[in-house]
Amino acid sequence: MAVILDCDTGIDDALAILYAAGNGADLTACTVTHGNVPVEIGTRNTLTILDRLGLTHVPVHQGAARPIAQPLATAELVHGQDGLGDTGIAASTRAAAGTLAAAEIVRLARDRPGELTLVAVGPLTNVALALLLEPALPALLAGVVVMGGAVGVPGNASELGEANVWHDPEAAQLVIDAPWDVVFVGLEITMRTQLPAPAIERIAASADPRARLAWSLMQHYLDVYEPILGARTCVLHDPLAMALALDPDLATYRLVAASVELRGARTRGQLVGDLRGYDPAPADPRAPGVIRIVDTLDIPAFHAKFLAALGA
Ligand code: BDR
Ligand code: CA
Repeated sequence: MAVILDCDTGIDDALAILYAAGNGADLTACTVTHGNVPVEIGTRNTLTILDRLGLTHVPVHQGAARPIAQPLATAELVHGQDGLGDTGIAASTRAAAGTLAAAEIVRLARDRPGELTLVAVGPLTNVALALLLEPALPALLAGVVVMGGAVGVPGNASELGEANVWHDPEAAQLVIDAPWDVVFVGLEITMRTQLPAPAIERIAASADPRARLAWSLMQHYLDVYEPILGARTCVLHDPLAMALALDPDLATYRLVAASVELRGARTRGQLVGDLRGYDPAPADPRAPGVIRIVDTLDIPAFHAKFLAALGA
């Protein structure tokens, strides 16, 4: 499957790239947004991870430096000062490609109509800009999968806000309102992807260079998640979005009417999904204000694919 990855690399974004590379994705391009770290650092990190995997042919396009309607906020506490867990990994010296992220998403979609799947695992600023530049974008893509939201569960960036939606709520609303069948892979499912102890042990013990890279990147993430999960493990937000783009059958889905809270004093950035199950339920996934969320997930199958991608 040919994939454009829009990311804010980021430890779990890096794990999503590892997942994609190890599960047969044809990474056509990576586009980078602000989010976990400033966009220049996220761009460098994306190049660094691709190059470490021998994917030096995958172009990386820098994108939005800040959200549409609020100041920039970053998450070095979660991802380390360098965004890659402060492991001292040697940075790529490759330059980013010239075209800016949103323009490149539009260019690729126009050049290869119906062929490309967009996987967005950062704040949605680049995707929103691409929609503003090319309103026909939904018809030009094969699919779109977003890591974002926390429907019916606590947030992580705020009490109710999941980071990718919270970092640019207006952009997320534009994505929800676009006429496409969009999957939002939110904390309601990603927080259930905690790696079990034997999986952690397999990554730690593997001599495969991909596992060594993942293990090194993951240490800071394990430090962050240990007090939250009560065990030295982590959840896999961005790899799950990539997994469901590549293998939608790992999950079942439900359509919900959704919108982003844009005004609340404490709730701005919350993805509000209507889980009441009233009749009539949303029937058209392409209707504005309708998204697909994950209902059930084959978690062991997902973990198996994650470990296989690392050679662990
Ligand atoms: C999301 O926020 C970022 O910190 C992660 O990379 C992931 O995309 C999880 O809420
Ligand atoms: Ca991310």
